[in-house]
Amino acid sequence: MKTVRVELGERAYPIHIGAGLLDNTDLYKPHIKGAKVFIITNETVAPLCLDKVESALAPIAEVHPSILPDGESHKRLSTIESIVDQMLSVPCDRKTTVVALGGGVVGDIAGFTAACYQRGIRFIQVPTTLLAQVDSSVGGKTGVNHPLGKNMIGAFHQPVCVIADSEILTSLPEREFCAGLAEVIKYGLIRDLEFFEWLENNIESLLQRESNAVAYAVEQSCRNKAAVVAEDETESGIRAILNFGHTFGHAIETGLNYKDWLHGEAVAAGMVMAGELSVRLGLLSNQENQRIKPLLKKTKLPISPPRHLNAKEFKSIMAVDKKAEAGTVKFIVLNQLGNAQITSDYDNEILDSTLASFLG
Ligand code: NAD
Ligand code: GLY
Repeated sequence: MKTVRVELGERAYPIHIGAGLLDNTDLYKPHIKGAKVFIITNETVAPLCLDKVESALAPIAEVHPSILPDGESHKRLSTIESIVDQMLSVPCDRKTTVVALGGGVVGDIAGFTAACYQRGIRFIQVPTTLLAQVDSSVGGKTGVNHPLGKNMIGAFHQPVCVIADSEILTSLPEREFCAGLAEVIKYGLIRDLEFFEWLENNIESLLQRESNAVAYAVEQSCRNKAAVVAEDETESGIRAILNFGHTFGHAIETGLNYKDWLHGEAVAAGMVMAGELSVRLGLLSNQENQRIKPLLKKTKLPISPPRHLNAKEFKSIMAVDKKAEAGTVKFIVLNQLGNAQITSDYDNEILDSTLASFLG
């Protein structure tokens, strides 16, 4: 087992990474303070591993599971209300620990419930998708969607521990696994050239889900994310680089009404667009940019947005990005592979020509 720490002073926490961790009571024990644990999971994940987590927790606390329907459409305020109803009827007190057992959807819902319940209680992230292990379970962003925008209601609330068991990833559908790899590749591109080169050389082993390769990729991703979060917990600056490819990616997701494409797939095409913008702004060399697409292609990820989306609509969707300030959209661009920067100082014509090269 490897442990990466997120260094946030009194809110610092460990991320444990390895095979067969889900039912290890000792990993949970230091983080459970009260008599009760409330596990939030979903109908897909529960049959795979809820029993393991329940049996690990049973010697430490009284365990109450809540099994949600699967899907992003349930990441909404009414779900939080119904979970709170269940927690009050247990009843859960302020010392209760919430355990988020699932992918990013469950993690965001459970984290936000923990942030709100009686003004905030402890929670542990037990991520079961690659995307959740390398991204959403780390860093304390929690929340739900609003009909008018994704992740528009939420709070920063750090978990007390993350337990990332690589064995649970074996049941993940290939498409979901590849979507998670998009975020892994992102870390290499934004701040870790050595890791990017390791990915270029080891992508086949990752796609075969060789356990050492997967564990290394999760560890390096978490190290990169933990370092950025420790520097800028609430995204007043540098944390925005974690959104490389996301401004374009969110516009793809919104343009498709959150249907057909997975988040990681939209981020992959978004990273290609952000790479192209970086070249056109004179920041990234064409030669370096040429290394992005082949890796994404081998990972079976899209390298361009759906052609039928139109540039004008795309631009208006990007204008409501969370990073937009006073009407100017900020972009995360690369000045070399392994080095990202945030820019709001760009020529609009260059943005337009970049969009025109990809969109109808
Ligand atoms: P997800 O949670 O919907 O999981 C994908 C699918 O895999 C679901 O059907 C799920 O039930 C299933 N699943 C989960 N674990 C499984 C397993 N081990 N085997 C088989 N199936 C399994 O999607 P995701 O990609 O994990 O997360 C996407 C969500 O994460 C989005 O809502 C996104 O906004 C959010 N997110 C949050 C952050 C953050 O910092 N909080 C960062 C990135 C993404
Ligand atoms: N997923 C981006 C962040 O956590 O900041």
